[in-house]
Amino acid sequence: MPLQHPRIRTFEDYQDAYQRSIENPEQFWASVAEPFTWRRKWESVCKPDLVDGHNEWFSGAKLNITENCLDRHLATRGNKLALIWEPNDPKTRQIRYTYRELHQQVCQFANVLLNNGVEKGDRVCLYMPMIPQLAIAVLACARIGAVHSVIFAGFSSTAIADRVNDAQASVVLTSDGLNRGPKQIPVKRVVDEALESCPSVRRVIVVEHLGWPVHMEEGRDVWYHEEAQDAAKTCPAEEMDAEDMLFILYTSGSTGKPKGVVHTTAGYMVWADYTFRNVFQVEENDIYWCTADIGWVTGHSYLLYGPLLNGASTLMFEGVPTYPDAGRFWEVIDKHGVNVFYTAPTAIRSLMATPLDNVLSYSLDSLRVLGSVGEPINEEAWHWYHTHVGKERCPVIDTWWQTETGGIMISALAGVSPTKPAHAGQPLPGVQPVLLTQEGQEIEGNNQEGYLAIKASWPGIIRTTYGDHERAKQTYFGPYPGYYFTGDGARRDENGLYRIIGRVDDVINVSGHRFGTAEIENAINENDNVVESAVVGYPHDVKGQGIYAFVICRDGACANEADKPRVEASIIETVVAQIGKIAKPDKIQLVSGLPKTRSGKIMRRILRKVAEGETSNIGDVTTLLDPAVVDEIISGRK
Ligand code: PRX
Repeated sequence: MPLQHPRIRTFEDYQDAYQRSIENPEQFWASVAEPFTWRRKWESVCKPDLVDGHNEWFSGAKLNITENCLDRHLATRGNKLALIWEPNDPKTRQIRYTYRELHQQVCQFANVLLNNGVEKGDRVCLYMPMIPQLAIAVLACARIGAVHSVIFAGFSSTAIADRVNDAQASVVLTSDGLNRGPKQIPVKRVVDEALESCPSVRRVIVVEHLGWPVHMEEGRDVWYHEEAQDAAKTCPAEEMDAEDMLFILYTSGSTGKPKGVVHTTAGYMVWADYTFRNVFQVEENDIYWCTADIGWVTGHSYLLYGPLLNGASTLMFEGVPTYPDAGRFWEVIDKHGVNVFYTAPTAIRSLMATPLDNVLSYSLDSLRVLGSVGEPINEEAWHWYHTHVGKERCPVIDTWWQTETGGIMISALAGVSPTKPAHAGQPLPGVQPVLLTQEGQEIEGNNQEGYLAIKASWPGIIRTTYGDHERAKQTYFGPYPGYYFTGDGARRDENGLYRIIGRVDDVINVSGHRFGTAEIENAINENDNVVESAVVGYPHDVKGQGIYAFVICRDGACANEADKPRVEASIIETVVAQIGKIAKPDKIQLVSGLPKTRSGKIMRRILRKVAEGETSNIGDVTTLLDPAVVDEIISGRK
C-alpha cells in the first residue's frame, strides 16, 4: 500500500499548513514529498534563487514521474478509471482506460518512441487533437526521459516552425486531422508545411484519427498504429534526475517571440500533485473534468499530471462547448456524472449569452466543485456559474496561476476556505505573494493594490526559458531582484483576499490565451501593405480582452475607401498564417500615424484609451511629436 498523501480538510488545517510552509519550508516540503515513489531521495529540498533564477528543488533525487502517475497506483487502483475520453461528436464512441490499461498504452507508445530512436533529453513536439493518444504520448515521453513540448493544435505552421526550431526537436507527433465542433482540420498538412523549415526533425509519427489520406514523407513519416504492432506493452521507466527537464511549453511575453518555459521533474510533480489535491478536493470515486486543451499549461497540470498523480479519474473532451449545441458541457457532466468541473471564464461568458434553457435542461446533480482559470472572472459570470451551474451548492474557486508557476498559486481550497466573487483568495501553502509599488517597495496591509510578486521559491517555479536563461532572469527576476515578478496587478481586500486585476505589461489575455502585443504587431508587419502597427487590448464581453490593431499602410495601399476592406482582410489572413486564428485582431483601424513621443516611442496609453472608448479622457498629449494624430485616431475609432 503506497504511503498516503495527507490532505488539508479544514480551514484550521490550511492555516496550520501555511504557517509551517513559511516557517520551515524544507521540513514542510520534505514531508509533502515523502509519499511519492523515489528511486533515490533528495540531498537538499530547496535551493532558492530569486535573483538569477537558478532555482532547484529536491536536488539529487532520482525518479520518474510516470511511475508516480501510473505504476504506483496499479496495486490499489489498477481497475479504476484513469482516463475517460468524450469525443467531439456525442454520437460516436467514448474511450475509457483504467490505470492498468493506461499504463500499458503509455508503455507501448514509449516503446514506439524508443524504436524510432528517441533518447533521454531529446525534445519531442506534439501537435495533436485532444484524443487519448495525446495524453498517452505526453506520458510516453516522460516515461523515457524525452522532453515533451506540446503545441496547441490551433497554431499556424509558422508558429509551429518557430517552436520546433527553438526546441531543436528531433521528432514530431501529430495526427491525420482533428475535429473542432462541426469543422475538421487537416493537421498533418499544417505540420508538413511547418517542417519545410525545420531541419532538426528526422521523424514524424502520425496517429490515425479521422482516417483521412495524408502525405507521408518517405524516410521521415511513420504511422503510429503500424509502429505499435510490434511494440511491447511494458517499458521500464527511465531514471530521471529531480532537475532533469520534463517539458517545455511556449508562452508569450511582452517582448519578442514566445519563450519556452521549462519545468523539471521533481518540483513540478510535487507542485502539480499537492495543488490538485488540496484545491479541488477530489474524492476517490469522483469524476473530474478539466476542459482545457493539453496544449496549454492547465491541460498539463490539471487534466493530466495532477489528477493522475492523485489516482483520480480524469475526463478529456475533444470538442467545443457549443457543439452540437450550447448545452454540450452540461450534457457531458450529466452523462459522466462529473463531480468536479474546471473551466475558463471565456467559456462561461459565451454560454451565458445563449438561452438559459441550455443549462436548465440538465440536472447537474453530480457537481460538487466548480473551478475557473486563465483570466479574471467577472462578477456576472461568477454568479451565473454559481447559480445556474452550481445551483448555489458548489463552491466556485477562482484559481490564479501562470505557465511559469507550474500550478495554482492563489485560490480558495474547495469547501475549505472562503470564496468571494471575482477574487482568487488566499495563497496556497508555500506561496508568499506581495504587492509592490512600481519602484519595488512592498506594500503592507490590506485594502491595497500593486504589482503582484512572489517572495519565496516554490517547487513548481519556472527553471529557465529554453536555450536562453538570461531571458528568464530578465523577465521574472530582473524587474525586482529577490522577487519572482508575475506581470499581473492585484488588489488585496480588507480580509487579505487577492483579486487579480490583469496584466501590467504588454501581454494581453484573449479568451484565456496569452499574447504579447509585440508578437501580434510583428505578425501584422509581415503583411506587404503594412508599414507599422500598434496593438492593444480592450475589454471584450466574451473574450475578456479583444485585440485592437492600429495600422499604418504603405503609400498607395489604401488610396481610397474601397481598398480598406481588402487590406483589412489581408492583414487578418497574415496574422492567421503567422500565429493562428486565435490571434485574429477583432478590430483593425487604418491610420496615417501613431502617437509617438519625440524619441519615437509609441504612447500605448493613448491607444488603449481609444480602444476602450475613453476618448474624452485621453490625458496629456503635449509630449507627442504630432499631437494632431490623436484627433484623427479618435475620429476613426472602430
Ligand atoms: O494574467 C493572469 C491570467 O493569465 C495569466 C497567465 O496565463 P497563462 O500562462 O497562459 O496561464 C493560464 C492558466 C494558468 C496570468 O498572468 N490569469 C490566470 N488565471 C487567472 C488569471 N487572471 C485572473 N484570475 C485568474 N484566476
